Amino acid sequence: MTTHASDDLYDRVHAAAAVVRARLGGRTPAVGLILGSGLGGFADRLADPVRIDYGELPGFPVSKVHGHAGRLVIGERGGATCVAMQGRVHLYEGHRAADVAFPARVLVALGAKVLIVTNAAGGLNPAWPPGTLMLIRDHLDFLRDHPLRGPNDERLGPRFPDMTTAYAPELRALVKDVAAAQGVALAEGVYVAMPGPCYETPAEVRMLQIVGGDATGMSTVPEVIVARHMGARVIGISCITNQAAGITGAALSHDEVTETATRVRATFEGLLDGILAALTTRGELGAA
Ligand code: HPA
Repeated sequence: MTTHASDDLYDRVHAAAAVVRARLGGRTPAVGLILGSGLGGFADRLADPVRIDYGELPGFPVSKVHGHAGRLVIGERGGATCVAMQGRVHLYEGHRAADVAFPARVLVALGAKVLIVTNAAGGLNPAWPPGTLMLIRDHLDFLRDHPLRGPNDERLGPRFPDMTTAYAPELRALVKDVAAAQGVALAEGVYVAMPGPCYETPAEVRMLQIVGGDATGMSTVPEVIVARHMGARVIGISCITNQAAGITGAALSHDEVTETATRVRATFEGLLDGILAALTTRGELGAA
């Protein structure tokens, strides 16, 4: 079911959260995880999992494209209770940004204080080979819909949210520490959200390089905006699955995207594990 931005958003978010909470036996997730293309396997690492198909959750947009919309997995990892989205919908499927971001609101309503958002992205920086992991420092939003467009409910967040530290600097420092300790080379840069579903043209890629982008993809920004709106802190990580169009001259394909994501899967999941453990031990999730 597609939902519409309207002033009952607060109630719809909490209605969906209540359905999830009823299945959790009193557990409160402190970390939300949104797992991007080819990266969803991490949800299978969560211990004592509760799995809930998106179709069971009121207001969750269901993918029209793959028939398999995905599910929430709630479980324990690295000392933290996590709620993971295994699969997400995108604007190019025909959803509004507010609907794409609705599940992220539910994660925060469930208690997530930190949202870790991951994606597969094309590299704009020619120095980065496919397989590079990039910590998102900031973003540029070229999507043609905004998740906060419409009436604002102050119970969810402010009308004009500040985006100065959309990707929490102290958590970026934590992620860099974890990567260094694991010997994982981690790039850092600006993620550019493009509407898709075509990959960019080489001219668009040149434009995105000129305006300061380092990686480009078709997701993430709506979820980050609503998480910030609701006061959660955000960590964003892109898996650079390919060099963006025109950089090498080779044609882009979704197969290349998923192949690269699969190749870096172990490194990526190890990094996520280290991040969860560090969030717990450094007290970033509040009192246990
Ligand atoms: N462009 C946009 N989205 C993507 C890309 C890309 O090159 N690779 C993976 N997702």
